[in-house]
Amino acid sequence: MKNIVIFGAPGAGKGTQSDKMIEKYGFEHISTGDVLRAEIKNGTELGKTAKGYIDNGQLIPDELMVNILASVYDSFGTEHKGVIFDGFPRTTPQAEALKDMLNARGHKIAAMIELFVPEEELMKRLILRGKESGRSDDNEETIKKRLNVYNTQTAPLIDWYEKEGVHHHVEGIGTIDEIFGRIVKVIDAL
Ligand code: AP5
Ligand code: MG
Repeated sequence: MKNIVIFGAPGAGKGTQSDKMIEKYGFEHISTGDVLRAEIKNGTELGKTAKGYIDNGQLIPDELMVNILASVYDSFGTEHKGVIFDGFPRTTPQAEALKDMLNARGHKIAAMIELFVPEEELMKRLILRGKESGRSDDNEETIKKRLNVYNTQTAPLIDWYEKEGVHHHVEGIGTIDEIFGRIVKVIDAL
């Protein structure tokens, strides 16, 4: 079982590379952003709460996120090949909650893969996606807020996972296949 945190700033390619990892390794996948967008689409209470935060580029409170996480994780059963955590954790309390949740089940994080992409490129990718798919948080003003939240609240987790001994830095620039090749090297060595 290889549980993997795919980590990086907004637009770093977490979702894109998760799709390739699922295809090659048969992993399960939790994208907290996708979960929240589905809740918004379905008009649930959680969705109504989440929308205000997402459209403003802010994080949803930790307690709400942590509750969702364990129930989605358990829905994969106990025999899975590994779960990719995409967009979670984003704060130190979330990283600690994830560790506790996995410990309680006798599981752990095998690797945290940090996709590193310079901000100029992130901005370009997200503005382009905003024009094509119309995600409500892909406009210049909200992207700037998301990048700021990433730098202040989420990036400190790089040191946190370094201390756990599972952090892997991967250059996130190049073609999707080139980047995937770098990720495969990390996963195959686990
Ligand atoms: P979330 O959905 O996780 O969004 P994000 O982190 O801002 O990242 P994105 O999904 O925009 O980017 P990505 O890294 O997946 O890149 P992608 O592959 O799409 O979160 C959204 C919001 O939900 C948060 O702001 C927050 O409010 C809330 N939330 C979520 N999780 C939370 C949590 N744990 N706690 C609290 N709040 C939470 O690629 C981006 C674009 O680039 C695509 O168009 C893609 O086609 C393109 N692209 C990918 N790779 C390349 C490449 N190599 N070259 C060129 N283009 C590329
Ligand atoms: Mg994503």
